[in-house]
Amino acid sequence: MLTIALPKGRMAQDALHWLTRAGWSPPAAVDDRQLVIPSQDGRLRYLLVKPMDAPVFVEQGAADMGIAGLDALRERAADVYEPMLLPFGHCRLAVAAPQDRPQRPLRLEISPRVATKYPRLAEQYFRSRGISAEFIVLNGSVELGPLVDMADLIVDIIQTGNTLRANRLVELRTIMPSQAVLMVNRASYRLHRESIQPLLQALRDVLSES
Ligand code: PRP
Repeated sequence: MLTIALPKGRMAQDALHWLTRAGWSPPAAVDDRQLVIPSQDGRLRYLLVKPMDAPVFVEQGAADMGIAGLDALRERAADVYEPMLLPFGHCRLAVAAPQDRPQRPLRLEISPRVATKYPRLAEQYFRSRGISAEFIVLNGSVELGPLVDMADLIVDIIQTGNTLRANRLVELRTIMPSQAVLMVNRASYRLHRESIQPLLQALRDVLSES
């Protein structure tokens, strides 16, 4: 039986919508305490995981397939097969700073303190620009960093921009655009190609119809 890792949180509803349309028979909801749920037709098994962990479950082979944001996939640097992007979860990974002192910390001579859930991508970004920075790794509420003077900048996901505005931050630079992506474990793809291919094709079909 194939196992699929589904991200909880803001991508969950769209993921369920598209998988339902493609006949993957996902669970009705993902905000359950139960973390392993069989598909309604009993053909598949779903794991409900934190969005940032979905690539890990797939890379390790605990799940044969899964959905994640490209941001999480690149941050985890997971080596998985990526057969298709999915039409939801659009956002961007960006550098942001307080409204009242936006430019100062991106100057080369200053080592900014950067609060982020994305230490790998943030480090890569600053290093490639020759800026040495100090990274403060958080799991959420990253926008608090500058507000409490723990950080000069943040590197975080921006979707609507509401969280930035509510916390008087402005976007300085986009690091990468992101959206949902389908992942397949490389070994599973070789071993279970006959089961996986029809699922991928069904998803491709509903995506191309819309
Ligand atoms: C993400 C991200 C921002 C926010 C951006 O956090 O870290 O805080 O969403 O979205 P917006 O531009 O639409 O306001 P999330 O809500 O996933 O929760 P978290 O802070 O617990 O990580």
